[in-house]
Amino acid sequence: MDCWSLFILLFYVCFNWIAAQDGELRWTYSGLVGQSQWSEHFPDCAGSSQSPVDVVTSLTKYDPSLTPMTPLGYSQHNHQPFTLLNSGHTVMVSLPGWMGLGGLPWLFSAVQLHLHWGSGGPSHGGSEHTIDGLSSEAELHIVHYNSELFPNVSAAMRQKNGLAVLGILIEAGDETNPGFNNIIRYLSRVRHAEQEDLIPGFDISSLLPKDLSRYYRYNGSLTTPPCYQEVIWTVFYEKVKISKAQLFKLETILYSSKVEEMDRMLLQDNYRNTQPLNKRVIYKSFSTEPGKELSSGEVTAIVIGVICGCVGVAVIIRFIIKTIRSTSSWDLLHSQRTAPTPRENDVGKSKSKKQDMDVKSRPETTEEVVLSPETEP
Ligand SMILES: *[C@@H]1O[C@H](CO)[C@@H](O)[C@H](O)[C@H]1NC(C)=O
Ligand SMILES: *[C@@H]1O[C@H](CO)[C@@H](O)[C@H](O)[C@H]1NC(C)=O
Repeated sequence: MDCWSLFILLFYVCFNWIAAQDGELRWTYSGLVGQSQWSEHFPDCAGSSQSPVDVVTSLTKYDPSLTPMTPLGYSQHNHQPFTLLNSGHTVMVSLPGWMGLGGLPWLFSAVQLHLHWGSGGPSHGGSEHTIDGLSSEAELHIVHYNSELFPNVSAAMRQKNGLAVLGILIEAGDETNPGFNNIIRYLSRVRHAEQEDLIPGFDISSLLPKDLSRYYRYNGSLTTPPCYQEVIWTVFYEKVKISKAQLFKLETILYSSKVEEMDRMLLQDNYRNTQPLNKRVIYKSFSTEPGKELSSGEVTAIVIGVICGCVGVAVIIRFIIKTIRSTSSWDLLHSQRTAPTPRENDVGKSKSKKQDMDVKSRPETTEEVVLSPETEP
């Protein structure tokens, strides 16, 4: 190797090192500094606990200690605007520090939320996490830092248990999701990278699935450089739906290029491929053992059973009321008559008390009284 090529090599290495240190290196999802090159510039990206991952549901382990996630103050925007930013890699909403997350061993404070998506088309993914190998159309991440142990997010980012991220898988459907419209309707204000604008505050919990008790939990990393491996991940089992029109807007309206750049690049496919799980275990907060979780067939059977039970009870009550009514009207009509106690009384003794009374007050054994023992068990 001659001096000149050695020099070029050294220059290249130094340049990349300096760029990475400055955080100025413009990494991308594909191309020259695409995801397969990230680890050359950001060594943590080659770590053994990277995110996202594919959740193989048959290999997940039920952990009964995983309690429901509790968003804190998510709905208290106090009519303060949020900042919407096109970072060139994603669209991000900064969150106020009073919003937080409970349900973990420490209290976490909210930092920001952002989205990952694809580029449309049937073969394309969009979500970062996949479930049994299947992608969703998009994914929302709500980032929090451990405010019990650390003073701010930059300090927490490199420390054990520093961050907690909620992952929400997004599917396209027919109905407009009003929660997501609080972001999507303003995307046109930040079309180019590094543009930001204020948007009206809104209820962040409107972006969450209804069921916050079922989720997957594992130890992972930031899904973008510098890929620090300090993230407690929570990926909800329930997916949220946005309309196809909302998804289309998300996929096509933003640029990853700055406003002054001549070559406009659409901000698309900003999701990282799933990473090896290595020795990690993905836990789940819910059990799918037979008997604990009901299949739809079992639910149907229970519903039918309950309905039949209710109808049966109604029939019995109606019968009893009918009996009482006819008994009392008979009593009124025949109150003057001294009815002789019939012989049948002795036979009825071994039967229920109620019937016993009926027989006493009604010497003539009617059809209803005969029916009574049949309906009682
Ligand atoms: C975060 O906290 C660390 C440690 O206390 C401090 O040195 C740093 O300046 C803080 N950073 C910001 C952005 O506040
Ligand atoms: C994450 O790692 C810590 C130890 O570093 C461990 O105690 C904890 O159980 C792990 N959590 C999960 C969900 O694997």
